[in-house]
Amino acid sequence: MAGLRVLVLGGGGREHALAWSFARSSAVDEVIAAPGNPGMRALGRCVPVDATDPKAVTTLAADVEADLVVVGPEAPLVAGVVDALEVDGRLAFGPGAAAAELEGSKAWMKGVLADAGVPTARHGAFTDDRADEALAFLDTLDDLYVVKTDGLAAGKGVVVTESRDDAADAVRSYLSGEAFGDAGRTVVIEEGLSGPELSVLVLCDGDNAVPLPPAQDFKRIGDGDTGPNTGGMGAYSPVPEATTAVVDTVMDSAVHPTLDVLRGRGITYRGVLYAGLMLTPQGPKVLEYNVRFGDPECQAVVPRLASDLAVHCMEAAEGRLVTPVAVREDACVTVVLAAEGYPVSPRTGDAIEGIGNADLLDGVAVFHAGTSMSGDEVTTSGGRVLAVSALGPDLVAARTRAYEAADLIHWPGVRYRRDIAESAAARTVGTPDATP
Ligand code: AMP
Ligand code: GLY
Repeated sequence: MAGLRVLVLGGGGREHALAWSFARSSAVDEVIAAPGNPGMRALGRCVPVDATDPKAVTTLAADVEADLVVVGPEAPLVAGVVDALEVDGRLAFGPGAAAAELEGSKAWMKGVLADAGVPTARHGAFTDDRADEALAFLDTLDDLYVVKTDGLAAGKGVVVTESRDDAADAVRSYLSGEAFGDAGRTVVIEEGLSGPELSVLVLCDGDNAVPLPPAQDFKRIGDGDTGPNTGGMGAYSPVPEATTAVVDTVMDSAVHPTLDVLRGRGITYRGVLYAGLMLTPQGPKVLEYNVRFGDPECQAVVPRLASDLAVHCMEAAEGRLVTPVAVREDACVTVVLAAEGYPVSPRTGDAIEGIGNADLLDGVAVFHAGTSMSGDEVTTSGGRVLAVSALGPDLVAARTRAYEAADLIHWPGVRYRRDIAESAAARTVGTPDATP
């Protein structure tokens, strides 16, 4: 495999990390990003596209003669971009629309989990004509209430609360369409679980499923897991709790049974399956599936790969994962730098300083997410602006470097969590690394 032209769809930190990895691959000649971002521009051409329009994507892939299209975000997958590319005879990494329903509809996903016997939170799913039943279901739960939109809500459609009143308010505002439009007109209500969270990203080729090193995400905006949920404020890998035995349990109790049920329904899963888990006292339980790499987990996992991600993606798309996944001993810590006001109403348009200096530090990569060019200046244009990833011999060293790099970057109102990987680093000091 050599001389590949890879088209990356998307323009966030996850896609920048994917393109960064592909650009370092000896199998890849050219990386093209659509739409890409200012950081990705240093790696290859960026071209505009409506990534959720299958016709536009197939036309672009043909124009640039892509050997492989790697789809970053969920919306194009749910829209059937991979199906359209395959009809066109082009290799694409990502599931088709039928399989992408695992993320596109939480109610459908819960049905698959039930058929597969996968451990998950007890739940009920309710359409907007069943509001009374939905509210009555809340009364069957104790202590912690979880209300989710059935459909895609850019990571913001989940409320976790100890207040039945707040849960009921969420149910009403979701079902009425007021909060999330059609995505919320069906709600999934579930019992609250507790325990450490874990993200296991699994490469799938239709037959085989191979886990990448697990990561942990930090969902809340504030230190100590306070404040509202975000798309993710940081991540790290390896995760001390995620021993080989835990990953094996996740594969055997969740991933393989899920893929088997999909196969039984005539659905082939190729691409990356992201299992969002809670490690409960009763064992790992699935909170959600995503049908793509996690963001920012991707930025913490990809730098740890010693094997070639482009080769893995190509093989998965071809339905024959054969090259073993190899992982570096180094740990990786990713800190997300966000704009003031995120996640509610981020302030944008500020000039960013210091990216170049941070990028120069040994083992550090700065991935762009919400940035634009304004003349010669890189400016903020979104909530999550940059993801700073640092490798180090262990989590303590990786974290020190990540924060050293983050501290070199400035714009008015920049904010980031100070506790990414803090407790994991403290727990791993002096203990041998038994994690994948
Ligand atoms: P999801 O998009 O389903 O992963 O939910 C987003 C976040 O909400 C998760 O990462 C958890 O932090 C939290 N969450 C989701 N489901 C539950 C649950 N059943 N119990 C406790 N927290 C949950
Ligand atoms: N970091 C969470 C996600 O990608 O959905």
